[in-house]
Amino acid sequence: MEAITTTPKAQGTPYNRAHHRFTVIAASCVFLLIVAGALVTSNDAGLSVPDWPTSFGSLYRIPPLVGGVKFEHGHRMLAELIGLLTIGVAVWTQKVDQRRWMRVLGWSALGTVIAQGVLGGLTVLFYLPPAISTAHATLAQTFFCIMVSIAFFTSKSWVREPELVLSSLRPRLTSLSMWALGAVWMQLIMGAAFRHSGIRLLPHIIGATVVFCMVNWLAFATLKRHGNIPRLATPARNLLVLLAIQIALGLASYVTRVLWSRGVAAPLTSMVISTVAHVACGALVLVTTVILTIQIHRHMAEQEDPVLQRDIPGRTVRA
Ligand code: HEM
Ligand code: HEM
Repeated sequence: MEAITTTPKAQGTPYNRAHHRFTVIAASCVFLLIVAGALVTSNDAGLSVPDWPTSFGSLYRIPPLVGGVKFEHGHRMLAELIGLLTIGVAVWTQKVDQRRWMRVLGWSALGTVIAQGVLGGLTVLFYLPPAISTAHATLAQTFFCIMVSIAFFTSKSWVREPELVLSSLRPRLTSLSMWALGAVWMQLIMGAAFRHSGIRLLPHIIGATVVFCMVNWLAFATLKRHGNIPRLATPARNLLVLLAIQIALGLASYVTRVLWSRGVAAPLTSMVISTVAHVACGALVLVTTVILTIQIHRHMAEQEDPVLQRDIPGRTVRA
C-alpha cells in the first residue's frame, strides 16, 4: 500500500479573498523588485546614486533618471513601494488572520524587508563590499519566499482543502525536500557571491550539479509516488521545467558574462539579459522548491507502517 488520505484537519481561519489577493499582488511586486535589483547589478549601476538614505541629498525629490541612476533610483523607489505593501500585509494579516503563526509570519516579512533595505543602504555606503552585496541578494530571494508563502497560506486551497497522505516509502519526501531546499539556497548564495566578485565560479558549478541531482531526485520521487495528487505533482513538474531553463540561462550567463565580457568597458546587452533572467529564474526555482517542500510537509505523514493507521476515521485508501 502506498498512500492513504484522511479527513481534513481544521484550519482555524476563514478564507478572505481580498486579503489573499493583496498578498498575491505584494508577492508579485517583490518578484519585479528582484528583477529591478538584478538590473542594477548587471548594469554596474550600484553606485550611480552615491548617498543613502537620501538620493543626491533628498529624501523625496526624484533625480534625473539618466544612465545608471534610472536603475539605482528606480530600484529604490520600487523598494519603498514594497516596504509599504509589506506593512499592509503585516497589519491586514494581524487584523483578519486567526492563526497566530501567520500573524508572526506577517511581522517577520516586515522585519525582513527592513533588514533588506538597510543592507541595500550599507552596500552603497561601503562601496559595494562583496559580503554585503551578497547578503542583500540572498535576503532578497529569502524575502520573496516569505511573501509567496504568505500568499500561499492565505489561498483557498490552503485554508479549505487539506488532505493527509500516509506513506512508508524511503527516502522520506519530507527529508528529501529539506535537503533539496538547502542545496538550492546554498546555490543562490554561491551564485550571488560570484556575481559580486566574492568567490570564483567553481563552487557554483559544483553546486549546480548537486542541485540538479537533488531536485531531479525529489521531483521524480514525488511524481512516481504521488503523481495522482495535483498539490504535490504540479509543483514537482514546475520545478523540473524551471530547473532546465535555469541551467540553460546559467550557461548563457557564463558565456556572456565570463567569456564575452573580457576587456569590454560597458555591460553587453546580451550579458544583462541573460544574467537578469538567470537571477529571476533562480528566484522562481527557489520559491517553487519552497512550495513543494511546504506541500510535502503539510500533506504527507510518513511513518514506518501505514497499515497500522487503518482505524483513522473517514480515511480513503489510494491504490
Ligand atoms: C526593499 C527591498 C529590496 C529588495 C527586495 C532588493 C533586492 C535587490 C536585488 C535582488 C538586487 C540584485 C542582486 C544581484 O543581482 O545579485 C539588488 C541590488 C542592489 N540593491 Fe536592492 N533591494 C531592496 C532594497 C534596496 C535599498 C533600500 C537600497 C538602497 C540603496 C538598495 C540598493 C541596492 C544596490 C546598490 C544594489 C546593487 C548591488 C551591487 O551591484 O553590488 N536595495 N537589490
Ligand atoms: C542548477 C541551478 C542553478 C541555480 C539555482 C542558479 C542560481 C543562481 C543565482 C540565484 C545567481 C545569482 C544570485 C544573485 O546575485 O542574486 C546565479 C549567478 C550565476 N550563475 Fe547560476 N544557478 C544555477 C546553475 C548555473 C549554471 C549551470 C551555470 C553555468 C555554468 C551558472 C552560472 C552562473 C553565473 C555565471 C552567475 C553570475 C552571473 C553574473 O555574474 O552576473 N549557474 N546563479
